Amino acid sequence: MKNPWLDIALADYEGHMSSPGVAQARLLADIFAEQLDIHKPRSLAVLGCAGGNGFERIASDITRRVVGVDLNGEYLNAVRVRFGTGFGQLELVEGDIQAATVAFAPVDLVYASLILEYVDVASTLRRVRDVLNPGGAFVTVVQLPAVHLPAVTLSPYTSLQVLEAVMRFVAPEDLRAAAEHNGLRQLSAATRQTPPGKRFEVQVFRAA
Ligand SMILES: C[S@@+](CC[C@H](N)C(=O)[O-])C[C@H]1O[C@@H](n2cnc3c(N)ncnc32)[C@H](O)[C@@H]1O
Repeated sequence: MKNPWLDIALADYEGHMSSPGVAQARLLADIFAEQLDIHKPRSLAVLGCAGGNGFERIASDITRRVVGVDLNGEYLNAVRVRFGTGFGQLELVEGDIQAATVAFAPVDLVYASLILEYVDVASTLRRVRDVLNPGGAFVTVVQLPAVHLPAVTLSPYTSLQVLEAVMRFVAPEDLRAAAEHNGLRQLSAATRQTPPGKRFEVQVFRAA
């Protein structure tokens, strides 16, 4: 089965995330910027980077190398147009993060926001270990279930609704256990919320 992300236009994804009833783009960019400020990585990999929401908040004098990975090559083309000259080194890797063929040199910080819901967590965490420097940080953002809200919030961007069928919530405690199994010790966890009320768990892990 073709991955539905390959059929979603970036304009639809970004329009959805910024629409008033969803209002996730701003919060996710803020969380990303906060984590960059805490870890100050010299090298960074963003798994499932889409169009690079928040990339404008990467301090290019601190973070010299930025790797963006996504299944959708059109999204990466947009990142190249938007940020191609913004960093010392920008590497864009098209493919499935679970595949061993999707490879790049290790980085100080691996950032995974709203992608673990679409992959096999165990195999993805094994891949994370391969691309994380010793002592490096792994930051995850997962969506928390809410009884009164659908997994994919309704918006005028109806092409997003196909994701309801493939999205799987990842319980933060399961993620913590799977990370520890891969030598990634949890340092912190915090819950954040959008104005419409959708909640997200931000977990920070450190590689042994
Ligand atoms: C919900 S979006 C999250 C985008 C961004 N990280 C954010 O927080 O707004 C999920 C992204 O992951 C990408 N993606 C989904 N499955 C993937 C996979 N197996 N390998 C690489 N990228 C994937 C999608 O194309 C999409 O850009």
